[in-house]
Amino acid sequence: MDRCNANLFNLTYLLNIAHYLLLFSLASSCLHLTKLRLVDGCIQEERQALLSFKQHLTDPSGRLSSWAGHHCCHWKGVSCDNRSRRVTKIDLRNTYEDRFFDDADDYGEEWDEAAYEESCLRGNITSSLLSLKHLSYLDLSDNNLQGISILCQLQSLRYLNISFASSDGGIHNCLFNLTNLKKT
Ligand SMILES: *[C@@H]1O[C@H](CO)[C@@H](O)[C@H](O)[C@H]1NC(C)=O
Ligand SMILES: *[C@@H]1O[C@H](CO)[C@@H](O)[C@H](O)[C@H]1NC(C)=O
Ligand SMILES: *[C@@H]1O[C@H](CO)[C@@H](O)[C@H](O)[C@H]1NC(C)=O
Ligand SMILES: *[C@@H]1O[C@H](CO)[C@@H](O)[C@H](O)[C@H]1NC(C)=O
Repeated sequence: MDRCNANLFNLTYLLNIAHYLLLFSLASSCLHLTKLRLVDGCIQEERQALLSFKQHLTDPSGRLSSWAGHHCCHWKGVSCDNRSRRVTKIDLRNTYEDRFFDDADDYGEEWDEAAYEESCLRGNITSSLLSLKHLSYLDLSDNNLQGISILCQLQSLRYLNISFASSDGGIHNCLFNLTNLKKT
C-alpha cells in the first residue's frame, strides 16, 4: 500500500468509527426516551386493580381524588418501582389523628369526631388488590374497612399495618401465613 492509499484507508476507518459513534448515540437517546416514557408510566392492569379497589370504597373527604387518569404511580398514596413501574406501596393511613395531635399541641384543637369519621375510608377490600403482585407495603390503618382477610393472599407483603383498620373483628389468623412480613 502506498502512502496515499494508506491515508485513504485511515479515512474510511475513521468514518466507520464516526458512523458507529453516531448510531450509538442515536440508540442511547432512544433508550433515554423510552426510559422517560416509563417514568410516567403505570402498568394498565395494576391501574385497573387500583380503580376497582377504589370503586368499592366510600371516601367522603376525597382522599382518593387524585386516583384518576393514567399515571397511577403519581396517585396520592401509591408508589411504584422506578424501573419496573410496578406498584410496590400503598399508604392510605388516615392521618386525621396525627394532624389532630400536631394541632392540639400548637393550638389546643378539640377532637372533632365528625371530621375523623369523614376522613375514614369505608367499604370492602376486594380481590382486585391481589393483581398487585409486587405490593410490598400496605398501610390501611385508622380506616373502617371490611374484607381484611383477602390480604392474607398478598404474599409479596413485607409491611402491613391494619391497626384500627377494620370493624370486622380482630387480627385474622391467616395473616400469619404472610411469611415475608418483617416482624416488628
Ligand atoms: C425513585 O425515584 C424517586 C423520585 O425520583 C427517588 O426519590 C427514589 O430515591 C428513587 N428510588 C430508587 C430506588 O431509585
Ligand atoms: C362487602 O361485601 C359483603 C360480602 O361480599 C357484602 O355483603 C357487603 O354488602 C359489602 N359491603 C359494601 C360496603 O360493599
Ligand atoms: C401502624 O399504624 C398506626 C396508626 O396509623 C401507627 O400508630 C403505628 O405506629 C403503625 N405501626 C407500625 C408498626 O408502623
Ligand atoms: C395457611 O396456608 C395454608 C396453605 O395455603 C392453609 O392450609 C392454612 O389454612 C393457612 N392458615 C391459616 C391460619 O389461614
